[in-house]
Amino acid sequence: MNEPKSESSESSESFYARHIFFCLNERKNGEECCAQHRAQEGFDRCKSQVKAAGLSGPGKVRVNKAGCLDRCAVGPVAVVYPDEVWYTYVDAHDIDEIVESHLKNGKVVQRLLTPRGVGR
Ligand code: FES
Repeated sequence: MNEPKSESSESSESFYARHIFFCLNERKNGEECCAQHRAQEGFDRCKSQVKAAGLSGPGKVRVNKAGCLDRCAVGPVAVVYPDEVWYTYVDAHDIDEIVESHLKNGKVVQRLLTPRGVGR
């Protein structure tokens, strides 16, 4: 029987250089949520731009869906790890800038930073 592989010696290294999570949460009761602000379009745009730029894959960038990240009041939001940088975006232009500047070149897009301390 095979033992589960231990990653303890590798766990300090990131599998991805950067990981961006998009909140796609939708609330049916009319409460504020990222889905109301075209979060799916932002996610789809990011995914396609990352792929087109050759940035996707292990050691590079991963784009993932997420549920509510509890920052609904400033949505739609996405967060980049390991940098712990939160963005509030509006349109495809914003997403393209995040991909080109941050995900590709490691430079935070200051104008899109989510306001500090604002949650749900
Ligand atoms: S619904 Fe997106 S952060 Fe809560």
